[in-house]
Amino acid sequence: VNETEAMQHAIELAWGGWGRVHPNPLVGAVVLADGQVAGEGFHAEFGEAHAETVALAAAGERARGAVLVVTLEPCAHQGKQPPCTDAALAAGIGRVVFGMRDPNPIAAGGAARLSGAGIDVVGGLLAEAVCRQNAIFVHRCRRSDRPFVALKLATSVDGRIADREGRSRWISGEPARDFVHWLRAGFDAIGVGGHTARFDDPSLTVRGSITPRRAPARVVFDRRGELPATLDLVRTAAEHPTIMVAGPETHVARFSILERMGIQVVSGAPTLAAGLARLREMGIESLLVEGGGRLAAALLAEGLVDRFYWIQSPLWLGDDGIPAFHGLPGMGIGETERWTIAERRSLAEDTLLVMDRNPCLPD
Ligand SMILES: NC(=O)c1ccc[n+]([C@@H]2O[C@H](COP(=O)([O-])OP(=O)(O)OC[C@H]3O[C@@H](n4cnc5c(N)ncnc54)[C@H](OP(=O)(O)O)[C@@H]3O)[C@@H](O)[C@H]2O)c1
Repeated sequence: VNETEAMQHAIELAWGGWGRVHPNPLVGAVVLADGQVAGEGFHAEFGEAHAETVALAAAGERARGAVLVVTLEPCAHQGKQPPCTDAALAAGIGRVVFGMRDPNPIAAGGAARLSGAGIDVVGGLLAEAVCRQNAIFVHRCRRSDRPFVALKLATSVDGRIADREGRSRWISGEPARDFVHWLRAGFDAIGVGGHTARFDDPSLTVRGSITPRRAPARVVFDRRGELPATLDLVRTAAEHPTIMVAGPETHVARFSILERMGIQVVSGAPTLAAGLARLREMGIESLLVEGGGRLAAALLAEGLVDRFYWIQSPLWLGDDGIPAFHGLPGMGIGETERWTIAERRSLAEDTLLVMDRNPCLPD
């Protein structure tokens, strides 16, 4: 196993913390002794052991003189856990290879501390892949006034998200739907447009293999603020935190009914950007928007989408189907943005394509 292969493995391991460690980053680590994996680990629970400590403990005596390969620069600060730099020094590690420098100023400085102690330290191995894996964490460290916004849509080959009757259940197959439950677990909130809320009345809860540490809130963008109180989405608001983002021209009288049912109303947001800023103020740092097509197009046109999870299924729905992006202004090939491909894989018969608006640039 070489260092690059060990880093790829550490990135894989790091996913083990998805849904459990945020707002901390996902981190994986491998101890390499004479080209063999002597120990491995990942940050599995918020506030608990860091990846390096787990991998070093697993390696035991074999860590002496070995290489520690870790996705994120080892932290140099005392938080809920002791500094990882101290654990590496105590274990007698000879060399440290890390992926991305820690963008969190409080935890940074680990590389300098290790090289100051005479350890051979190399940073930047597969840094872009690590940055992509931690896009939400990086966005948070860069102190944006809105959450990290990811959009997820399941479409036909011809870019429709529902058939001519408005039915979208189910365009994609079960493995793709399982993936969406896994994905939801890592976000602070799951959002939909008002038409989708009325038409599909989705539950927007996480029902997959991961129980998230904090269940994501549900957000409905309904400009007129007229969600019917008969929706299950509204009736279950007391059990599952639910927020309605409404525009300035709304039926304020209706709010008290919805509020009595447990909906938190964010009213008077003049634009989607303003609505997102209000969500950020409420502590929502990441939002997964699951449609529909009007909301998707409006967010995209305003430059408010950071990542797109596109699930494409092998069927056609024709011109009367509901378009994935409805109302997007026309653009010339030369003037439109070209996005960066983050991942491509198959989910049984469906295809997942993950793309980022900007390449994830490590600090
Ligand atoms: N396959 C999938 O992945 C998928 C996912 C979700 C939904 N769907 C399907 O999509 C269909 C619904 O989609 P849709 O495109 O009709 O509607 P939609 O995107 O669900 O709803 C649009 C909502 O967003 C509101 N909105 C708030 N701010 C906005 C802004 N700045 N610009 C535009 N809209 C804004 C609209 O308000 P106004 O009413 O004031 O314009 C409206 O309430 C359903 O048939 C559903 O089954 C499919």
